[in-house]
Amino acid sequence: MTGSRPAWDAVFRGVPRAPYIPDAVWLDGVPLDRNTDSDQWNAAVLADVPLVTQMDDGTDSGDLIPTSSASMPSLVRLMLESLDPRTHHHVLEIGTGTGWSTALLATALTGGRVTSIEVDPLVAIQAQESLRSSGLAPTLLVGDGLQGHKEDAPYHRLIATMAVRRVPYVWVEQTAPGGVIVTPWGTAYNNSGLLRLFVDGNGTASGRFMGNVNFMWARSQRGPFDTREFVGDVIPDPDTARIRHTMTDPRPLREEHADFAIGLRLPEVEHRTFFGRGDRAEEFTVWYADGESWASIDYKPGVDSYEVNESGPRDLWREIEAAYDAWRAQGEPPREQHGVTVTRDGQWTWLDGPNGRVDVGPTPT
Ligand SMILES: C[S@@+](CC[C@H](N)C(=O)[O-])C[C@H]1O[C@@H](n2cnc3c(N)ncnc32)[C@H](O)[C@@H]1O
Repeated sequence: MTGSRPAWDAVFRGVPRAPYIPDAVWLDGVPLDRNTDSDQWNAAVLADVPLVTQMDDGTDSGDLIPTSSASMPSLVRLMLESLDPRTHHHVLEIGTGTGWSTALLATALTGGRVTSIEVDPLVAIQAQESLRSSGLAPTLLVGDGLQGHKEDAPYHRLIATMAVRRVPYVWVEQTAPGGVIVTPWGTAYNNSGLLRLFVDGNGTASGRFMGNVNFMWARSQRGPFDTREFVGDVIPDPDTARIRHTMTDPRPLREEHADFAIGLRLPEVEHRTFFGRGDRAEEFTVWYADGESWASIDYKPGVDSYEVNESGPRDLWREIEAAYDAWRAQGEPPREQHGVTVTRDGQWTWLDGPNGRVDVGPTPT
């Protein structure tokens, strides 16, 4: 059976976002309530911005970590077009969220099907109600989408709307040969990859990064540091450090593609940057940590040597410098020149093709 490509313009026109957005949302961290700020709520829903729809898994922990959202409309479109389904396809979506992207798929797949999995039961119920009110009836499941849903496999396409550090092999197994997997992908160091994998007939999936995105992590792949204060908790002992100096200016390491490439080489290392205030606003300190070792570098304008602090068994700053140098030696390739291959035995990242494996540095024990 063959099908055509969905007419995405008509699909987006026919499926407005508003019916899927809860009354209480957060825009840029600021709460917005439809009942009290209806003009701003309406404007935000029509704007090309992501809206957070749940914090802290719906608990009152007060950490204010976004755990569900309505993605930015232009990004939803980019991801659906990259997935490139045909109208007769069966698509597995992981991360139902508000149900808006599920509704777009269900509308687009006129002769096909969509199955969508959401880990959070309350989020899933809201999505189900919104979809039902719009007269749509995709298959909705509550559970861990990292397991896929083998009962209805294989799927022609699989799309995830939360970031993974490792692509679960079951996703590859449950996607038909010739199928496509689109998923946000990141490292503890840098969570900005949007990955498109093509599944071959030998049980391997391979493909490149497509752009700069920032998705929340899959629930079970969240980093160990997400809910902790960085300095003072992840870095408990800033006064015990070994001090030295480096000529490496830390500014270029913060550039988008350099940051991504360092993360490919040191995927388990986290980093945060803190800027000075007032007349020290150009100064900053970058902290790096792997849970056991940590390092920091202080940037000040107008100097050519920067203070480095390191603590723990690893010389983390030296590893960061080596990762940066390795990327520079390759000609500073952008994120989109890199990709991932996933086989039954695991995944690896590469430059220019699966044979150009990126050397991954030591991981913490
Ligand atoms: C960015 S939001 C979804 C955006 C959604 N497609 C939309 O347009 O509204 C990501 C969702 O993934 C869900 N999620 C996180 N980990 C998951 C997992 N392991 N399995 C299924 N859903 C998961 C979150 O609860 C959240 O609702």
